[in-house]
Amino acid sequence: MKDITETARTQAEIIEAFKFRHACKVFDPERKIDDASFDTILEAARLSPTSFGHEPFKILMIQSQEKRELFREFSWGANGMMNGTSGQLGTASHFGIILAHTAETMTAGSDYLQNFYRTVKQLPDEVIEIFNGAYGKFQDSDHHIKTDREIADWSGKQAYIVLANMMTAGALLRIDSCPIEGFDMALTSEVLEEHFGVDPKLYKPAVMFAFGYRADEPQFDKTRRTMEETVSWF
Ligand SMILES: Cc1cc2nc3c(=O)[nH]c(=O)nc-3n(C[C@H](O)[C@H](O)[C@H](O)COP(=O)(O)O)c2cc1C
Repeated sequence: MKDITETARTQAEIIEAFKFRHACKVFDPERKIDDASFDTILEAARLSPTSFGHEPFKILMIQSQEKRELFREFSWGANGMMNGTSGQLGTASHFGIILAHTAETMTAGSDYLQNFYRTVKQLPDEVIEIFNGAYGKFQDSDHHIKTDREIADWSGKQAYIVLANMMTAGALLRIDSCPIEGFDMALTSEVLEEHFGVDPKLYKPAVMFAFGYRADEPQFDKTRRTMEETVSWF
């Protein structure tokens, strides 16, 4: 059990980390994140919660500058066009894309899910039947998630939780980051298929991310609505 002062210290550390984190536009290109720290960030991703525990995402790390450049033209949120630099694409120590699973794998009863329940979740057949029924109802009538687009968007929601945890883990280590959805979906999918062998029937891009160490302090102070505007208690 933590004593009261230790709890207060942890509370302060958490808020410090959240204040430290900002959407970093330009990283110091000379500073690389060490492997143990980035492995920790990836482990935070892997341990993240997902709906039904289906883990409907995959992380693609893009460390080759040549490969990063393939995204530059249509990734206005990461190419530095807003600040006249080479952007997160040109300066991040680590850059990646989280891919979202599509209907092919994430439709209730799919072969993929049967195998996933058996091999990853290690569920017995009778529990798999319960999962199939519950997830089928969730897709059919609870949330109406049926089309490929709806299922990929649902997978993408899980991807955003993953990314949030990665950014918080980074901030606790005083590593900077930026979430990035400033890119053209269709062109990103084309590049992923042509240059990374990503089958668009199986995966759609959800969100990009960059990690590294800030080149400069943030240009703007953090602004947020008040707690009263943000939260209602009943
Ligand atoms: C899902 C998501 C996508 C974002 N996309 C971009 C982006 O493409 N480029 C960028 O520079 N910032 C991007 N941002 C950063 C936001 O603009 C930023 O988080 C917001 O203005 C609050 O500022 P702060 O993160 O510095 O506190 C994105 C943020 C989120 C959560």
